Formats: sequence, C-alpha cells, structure tokens
Amino acid sequence: MRVGDRDFRSIWPEPGGSTVGIIDQTRLPHELKIVTLASLDDAATAIADMWVRGAPLIGATAAYGMAFALRADASDAGLDHAYDVLHAARPTAVNLRWALDAVRRRMRELPVSERADAAWAFAGKVCDEDVETNRQIGLNGLALIEAAARGKRTGEPVNILTHCNAGWLATVDWGTATSPIYQAFEKGIPVHVWVDETRPRNQGASLTAWELANHGVPHTLIVDNAGGHLMQHRKVDLCIVGSDRTTALGDVCNKIGTYLKALAARDNGVPFYAALPASTIDWTARNGVAEIPIEERSGEEVSHIVGMNDAGVVERVRIAPEATKVSNFAFDVTPARLVTGLITERGVCTASEAGLASLFPEFARKSA
Ligand code: MRU
Repeated sequence: MRVGDRDFRSIWPEPGGSTVGIIDQTRLPHELKIVTLASLDDAATAIADMWVRGAPLIGATAAYGMAFALRADASDAGLDHAYDVLHAARPTAVNLRWALDAVRRRMRELPVSERADAAWAFAGKVCDEDVETNRQIGLNGLALIEAAARGKRTGEPVNILTHCNAGWLATVDWGTATSPIYQAFEKGIPVHVWVDETRPRNQGASLTAWELANHGVPHTLIVDNAGGHLMQHRKVDLCIVGSDRTTALGDVCNKIGTYLKALAARDNGVPFYAALPASTIDWTARNGVAEIPIEERSGEEVSHIVGMNDAGVVERVRIAPEATKVSNFAFDVTPARLVTGLITERGVCTASEAGLASLFPEFARKSA
C-alpha cells in the first residue's frame, strides 16, 4: 500500500537475492526504519521482538527464516532445528506453524542440495499468495460495506470499528480487516474508521492510524474503552477485526480486547466480522478458550508506554507504581456465537463448523 509516493509491502527480497527487507514496526509511527534480515536468528528475533507482527506476516517471515537456515544446514536435522527455533518465537498466531509446516513438508521431498534455493523461492511464493489472498478478502468484504452504504444518505460515511492492526503491516499487503476498507475507499464509497488504540503496545495508534493516514482513509483514533459508547450512539455500522487463530468451530482468537468489542457489538446489534485467510484457521482446534495458547508478554509493556515527547525524542516512560504487579495477556478468544461472520478469501461464511466447511470442504473433512 502507499507510503508517501511509494508502494510498499511489509517484507520483500532485497537485490542480491540473499536477504529480505522489513519495516521495523516498533519504530512506527515516528520513524520508517528498514531492517535487513539475513539469518535464522534475525528472523526469529524480528518475530519475537515484534519488528514484524500480525499473523500472516509472522508466517511469511518464518518462511524466509527457514530459507536462511537451510543455506547453513539443509539436512533434515537443520530443517528441524530451524523449525523449532522459529516456532518458539511467538505462540498464538497459527500462521507461524502453518508456514513452517508447509516449508518443511516441501523441503523434505527434495534432495538436500536443492533445498536452500527451493526454500527461498517457496518463501517468495508464500508472500505473493498472501497478497492475493488478502486482496480477495477485501473484495469479499467489500460487499458488506456496500450493503451498509446503501442505508446511508449521500456522502455519509460507513463507520467501521477495528481493533489492533490487521492492516497491510500485519500481512504482506492489503491487510485482512483493512482490505475491505481499502477496496471500498478505492471504489469511492465514503468510509470512516474508528481505530482502537489497542493497549498495551498501541498497534492501533501507531500502526493502523499510520497506515490509514498514509493512504488517505478518513479515520479517528479512540481509546480502547470507547467502542461500547460509540455503538450505543449508533456511530458504528460494523466492526471488522483480524484473527490470529480461528478454530474449526469459528471461535476467533485476536488481540486482547477483541472479545469486549464483540460483546458490546452484540448488545447493540452491530454486526461483528473477523477477516482472515485460511492459513489462520487451526483445523485441529475446536474450543478456542480451552485450546488456544495465549501469549503472555512482559509486564513492562503495561507498566510503561513509549511515545514521542514535544522535543521530538522517542521516550519510554513508566505509568504505574514500581511496586504494582502487572499481567499482560496478549490475545483473547471471541466465541463464535458473538461473531456475525468470517470474511475469507473464498467468501463470507457464518462463524460455525458448517460455515467453514461450506468454504473449505477439503480441510474441514480432515478435521472432523
Ligand atoms: O501482537 P500482534 O501485533 O502480532 O497482534 C496482531 C493481531 O492481533 C492482528 O489482529 C492479527 O494478527 C490479525 S493480522 C491480519
């Protein structure tokens, strides 16, 4: 998507064909810092420290991490070692496992001497497919925004609330939750996005707002607790969020706070959609609350906050007493009953086993 006068992806192969470029997302919105990844450790660090984040981008970065590792050791043992290192980087987004499984499966079929080059090409394919998948998600979700627009007076925008960053920065391009928004915007449908700030790391304030601002999409930043109030006052037409892991029964695990938005949406009759690629569906999981591992991150993300001071210096400051105990659960699970529908690359379905099976019969059969 656009940043200034340039079209960007969130990860790209650099000239020379042996390294990839990424945007260090911990520096946004204050600095557009490009970082080169060249090794397995680089890729694992970029995922664990959230230079890259968002379920699909984590998967794409992991695929390149496997390719880097195979240059040093393309044996089965090397493959397994790289898999384990990358798999340990972050636990919740299932795209990580999906990408690692796909690379390992394919590489095991090949002679050792061909694996490094093949893994590099495979990682590029994962990225290209992610872009096309998200574009399709956008086209499928566009119909929902168009339907909402039909109920508006001329020029009145469709108000969409989103949580965290499920935008192009979280994928290779387009985003998932933002893809229908970008499609609607490109089509000239008036849209306005309520952007949850998304404490503790503020992906909404620092990433989604930055993305939308760069693309010229009207948006307003709100505190995480404002969504319920806005919905009560009919200021939200629909919610669209992303997903880090969706179960075979349609439960949606996403950034902490998503569940509360879904509860408020249900109480106020506001449609609540999750936009996700098939790579985010964990066909082995059924009950999300019971089965999905929830990442717990450093308490310092809660007790401290990072921002730019009036002198233009980025600072990290403490906002809680030193003696106060802190917990930091990074994700929560929204049960399928609160989700109006799932927007996927194959269409929109109900958040249910039958809904997912109608779009993905080949996977659903295996999981039943
Ligand atoms: O902790 P993060 O920033 O990786 O969390 C990201 C999210 O929760 C996104 O909503 C999710 O990965 C969907 S990305 C298209």
